Amino acid sequence: LEKKIRKIRDHVNEYPDFPKPGVLFRDVFSVFQNAELVAMLREVLIAFATQIQPPVECVVGIDARGFLLAPFIALELEVPFVPVRKKGKLPGKVASVSYALEYGEANMEIQESSIKEGQRVLIVDDLLATGGSLGAACTLVKKLGGVVEACLVLMELSELKGRLNVPTNVISIIKY
Ligand code: PRP
Ligand code: HPA
Repeated sequence: LEKKIRKIRDHVNEYPDFPKPGVLFRDVFSVFQNAELVAMLREVLIAFATQIQPPVECVVGIDARGFLLAPFIALELEVPFVPVRKKGKLPGKVASVSYALEYGEANMEIQESSIKEGQRVLIVDDLLATGGSLGAACTLVKKLGGVVEACLVLMELSELKGRLNVPTNVISIIKY
């Protein structure tokens, strides 16, 4: 597994000064250029997700790159996949939460009936930076009565200490 993780890490492209000066952007889409790497990514995600005890009953993915990863896990565990989206993208009744961005704030939403009372949930995203997105997703799941068992990210920007803004166990596969 270590070898596969290293290979995935080697294929995450890095873009200096994107989307703004001073940011080194790590692009998970570059991994999806190669089907063999996608299979490895899937295997690695499933290996980490199946370690979580008690087993989760629902997998939440965060808009947009969390949608690439969460369904692999949901499919393997045979549990539902539920999206958390940026404001105004989800139809029907939604719960909303505002969260801090580097400058200003934004809103995320979840469909009201998507999680059942007491359901054990895993939240998945590509990358943990400040923790604003994962923190907001945790708030939304709790608003619907769900229990966040853990958060799982492929990449963590450790020096930003974003996990301090996430009120649950964060599992990260690649640390920078
Ligand atoms: C990125 C990334 C995470 C989030 C991490 O998404 O995919 O979801 O930022 O940052 P945080 O820990 O500081 O919240 P982005 O907001 O760029 O949205 P996108 O996936 O729609 O491009
Ligand atoms: N990649 C993807 N999303 C991000 C990054 C990054 O490097 N930094 C903050 N959000």
